[in-house]
Amino acid sequence: MPDDARKRALRSSHWFGKIDRDGFAHRSWMKNEGLPQHLFDGRPVIGICNTWSELTPCNAHFRRIADHVKRGVYEMGGFPLEFPVMSLGETLMRPTTMLFRNLVSMDVEESIRANPLDGVVLLMGCDKTTPALLMGAASCDLPTIGVSGGPMLNGKFRGTDIGSGTNVWSMSEDVRAGKMSLADFMDAESCMSRSAGHCMTMGTASTMASMVEALGIGLPTNAAIPAVDSRRYVLAHMAGRRIVEMVREDLRMSKILTRKAFENAIRVNAAIGGSTNAVVHLLALAGRVGVKLELSDWDRLGHDVPLLVNLMPSGQFLMEDLYYAGGLPAVIRELGKLIHKDAMTVSGATMGENVKNAPCYDRKVIATAKEPIKEKAGIAVLRGNLCPDGAVIKPSAATPKLMKHRGRAIVFETIEELHQRIDSVDVDESRVMVLKGAGPKGYPGFPEVGNMPLPQKVLKKGVTDMVRISDARMSGTAYGTVVLHISPEAAAGGTLALVKDGDMIELNVERRRLHLDVPETEIKRRRAAWKPPAAEFDRGYARLYVDHVLQAHQGADLDFLVGKSGAPIARESH
Ligand code: FES
Repeated sequence: MPDDARKRALRSSHWFGKIDRDGFAHRSWMKNEGLPQHLFDGRPVIGICNTWSELTPCNAHFRRIADHVKRGVYEMGGFPLEFPVMSLGETLMRPTTMLFRNLVSMDVEESIRANPLDGVVLLMGCDKTTPALLMGAASCDLPTIGVSGGPMLNGKFRGTDIGSGTNVWSMSEDVRAGKMSLADFMDAESCMSRSAGHCMTMGTASTMASMVEALGIGLPTNAAIPAVDSRRYVLAHMAGRRIVEMVREDLRMSKILTRKAFENAIRVNAAIGGSTNAVVHLLALAGRVGVKLELSDWDRLGHDVPLLVNLMPSGQFLMEDLYYAGGLPAVIRELGKLIHKDAMTVSGATMGENVKNAPCYDRKVIATAKEPIKEKAGIAVLRGNLCPDGAVIKPSAATPKLMKHRGRAIVFETIEELHQRIDSVDVDESRVMVLKGAGPKGYPGFPEVGNMPLPQKVLKKGVTDMVRISDARMSGTAYGTVVLHISPEAAAGGTLALVKDGDMIELNVERRRLHLDVPETEIKRRRAAWKPPAAEFDRGYARLYVDHVLQAHQGADLDFLVGKSGAPIARESH
């Protein structure tokens, strides 16, 4: 250990190092857990922030991961203490886990700051658990490592690989089109999710696990090792070892999460065909650490990046295949000059050093930059009178011929109205489906409903995609020509609120344009007559959220959570 690190009193010493009544209280009650005296001798105390919950199936194996982190911490002379925070299970929570992302970030931030911790390991898996923990920890800025829980093994259904989410969307549309029986659909249920872990497509969980690695806040290979592969537990063990060293090196989050790290992450997101949700989460995370990142950066930095990873929903394979092909290090290495190689990472080495010898074992899964799966795969940011503050579309998951389209709107004021009418509406595939009231304030919580099901009449013709626009998000596992995150949202008085059935809408992704082709005088008339929706919540967290949530282009954080307060030691409790 360097001398200056030895001399620097650790944060935890303000609790456990006191030889007085308060020190007695801080140590004595901890000893009821069977912790011996020598653990309170001034060694680094490492918090293991755990989102384990049986209500979050993607994170249900996390107690075992925590045990392996502890082995590494003990091995390096640290003192691990596991603590729970609220967990967010994507498949069960209503109205949407996104409503609670910021709440969990507060839980994480306050739990870290209030306790005698010197460093933190974040255990993250299901979609929102990753940004929530990163955001909360970033506002404290202690040395921190992210450990993802890993994806499930590939789904296997009647001899075919099926992917979480992606095949739920495709098979449920097949049932509605009369191409698959309901009994077969139900049979696929247990074949899709057959091991511990999170969605194994390049959905939001896999995207965010990749962002953890690309930002340098997780160890190399964090993104893709399956949850049940023994090497996932080795990674957890190594993270436990490394976090103790990071405390001694004072390698804080803010030294890792620099502008260069975010630029690397944006480019990696394009190369992997990552989720549009990464846009919102990374904007919010950048806001916490004080890095100036804007929606337009996603287009500017990611636009020319080729799609290298052939995973659903943009491609064919699944996360297990990505790991066997070389994982994210092989992808980052392939990006060459597009990556800031000098960005520091939690491994103690730079990004360039981490990936310089990363091999690729399967070019069907990870393509070369010279022969990519698609050119220019980055998320496109649209502007126009329908989205003056921006909207996004994922070109790699869209239908090329629909990227330039003019069509008349068919409008759904709510998602419930859509579900009620979608099988009876008499429209053809040239129409533009418009959904309102699904933004941060409107739902509330900004749910993943933007990939609206198509009208049955259209599906029965064999059509599989239509232009769909909304202020919602969509699952990272979903696909289609789907414009999302329209800002300002309808509930905040955005132009989206004023669209009527039959209005002409123009989408031109190449020109980055989304336009409501209605005379300005008519738009003004409609705006003057528009009334905001009545407030639905008069108390509780939902009220706090609706009053303070920022719009999509700002990351949908709560306005008073932007920035960081560090981890100063508060006054004594007794
Ligand atoms: Fe948890 Fe997809 S439902 S990651």
